[in-house]
Amino acid sequence: MYSTWEELENACRSCTKCGLCEGRTNVVVGMGNPQAKVMFVGEGPGEQEDLQGKPFVGRSGQLLDKMLDAVDLDRNRNIYIGNIVKCRPPKNRDPLPEEQEMCIDWLRDQFLLIRPKIIVCLGRIAAMKLIRPDFHIMKEHGQFFEKGGVLMMATLHPAALLRNPNNKPSAFEDFLKLRAKMDELGIE
Ligand code: URA
Ligand code: SF4
Repeated sequence: MYSTWEELENACRSCTKCGLCEGRTNVVVGMGNPQAKVMFVGEGPGEQEDLQGKPFVGRSGQLLDKMLDAVDLDRNRNIYIGNIVKCRPPKNRDPLPEEQEMCIDWLRDQFLLIRPKIIVCLGRIAAMKLIRPDFHIMKEHGQFFEKGGVLMMATLHPAALLRNPNNKPSAFEDFLKLRAKMDELGIE
């Protein structure tokens, strides 16, 4: 547990707890408002994220920003975005269970500093790690689950939407549900 963001970010940037540290250009700690009530969690950095040291800055990030904007969410204003693993897996493969397990402490520390009311998992990997190991993303996206006083929801990963644009309307409904839940809870 860290008492400041500076301490957490500095420690995370020099992490060598798993093998993913070997191929990285930058550790992608996360970005956004540390006072956000809503936290988004992706899977892990891709090429652009690794090069720039920020989450969701490639093509899937542009799509994510568009969907966020449509429900008045903005990574520079009212959300925080992090990932299950902070270093890019080679060729963007899924992070291995042991890599996720080593890295999850960073996310937990981020959660403890932010204390969000809602966590949105971006895609299957984050949903299986944070909601339930047998989470079924196509069946259960858009539903809210309560865990330890925090509301959790998963939506389809924007990279999956780029591969499969037919699913965009149904993913967008998840964002509308998120907005409705925020309004219900009085979150800006
Ligand atoms: N995909 C993710 O899951 N996370 C990122 O930061 C970028 C792409
Ligand atoms: Fe550390 Fe996570 Fe990077 Fe592995 S992926 S080296 S645990 S920061």
